[in-house]
Amino acid sequence: MLVYLNGTYVPKERATISVDDRGFIFGDGVYEVIRARDGQLFEAAAHFERLAAGLDALEIQGLARAELQTLETIARELLERNGLVQGNGESGGASEATIYLQVTRGAAPRTHAFPRVATTPTVYLAASPFTPAVALQERGGTAITLPDVRWARCNIKTINLVPNVLAKQRAVEAGATEAIFVRDGAITDGASTNVFAVFDGEVRTPPLSTYLLPGITRRVVLDLAAESGIPVREQPVLLEELARADELFLTGTTTDVQPVCELDGRRIGAGTPGPVTRRLQSALAGRLAGLARAVAS
Ligand code: PDD
Repeated sequence: MLVYLNGTYVPKERATISVDDRGFIFGDGVYEVIRARDGQLFEAAAHFERLAAGLDALEIQGLARAELQTLETIARELLERNGLVQGNGESGGASEATIYLQVTRGAAPRTHAFPRVATTPTVYLAASPFTPAVALQERGGTAITLPDVRWARCNIKTINLVPNVLAKQRAVEAGATEAIFVRDGAITDGASTNVFAVFDGEVRTPPLSTYLLPGITRRVVLDLAAESGIPVREQPVLLEELARADELFLTGTTTDVQPVCELDGRRIGAGTPGPVTRRLQSALAGRLAGLARAVAS
């Protein structure tokens, strides 16, 4: 696999960074995961906007807006160079891939405050083949809840994911597919997803705040719900309310719309993927298919 690191395309095994990199030492950086189908990036503008907002929030300078646009070209180039633009003709399937993109403040002798001499940000992009979790989307998964012990700026997509790593591990150990964070009695994020519930036909998801990631898929699903005439409300969802939710589902770049049929060992609704979740699943699938069709035409 060819990856992109600081201006050059290199085989992944030859891509090296300094041990002084502030991403390695402090987790001082941001990242994005972007979905690609048949060489086309899904919601690229939204991802690069969130990246720019994260760089601003961390005050990582040295990457101009023009360069951010170059990153989009680099991402496309990586898909091309790694043979991820065309599906397998035999099965007729589309070429599914993800782009991982990370920018850190760069390498400098270790000081907590920003280095006194300006550093050049470390820029890393990689493309990988991706297999959507179709079976899980079909039958639905299960989730556990955990106290949200993350910091108070979860809206920034930083590479500091230790609480998320631990939460996902607790989920795996519990035989669940996701861990959902709860802060002050209300749900915030999943370990790597946004969370939606359905009450009496109305879709509800926590409003954007500094306590959750403004997911790109979250935004798309809210738009799709509105387009489909499904009532939506961005309003806090209390953990205790979930006992009477008819449906629960997760969204994310690598998750799509994934039903959750059981939470903390208790069934949600009928214990099977519900009709609103199904409608939004197929609406999102349609959006992704549209991306592939746009290439074909
Ligand atoms: N995670 N919440 C958290 C904490 C996340 O890490 C993610 C994405 C999401 C969903 O956001 P989006 O729809 O933009 O992917 C919500 C990525 C996929 C990851 O860390 O791999």
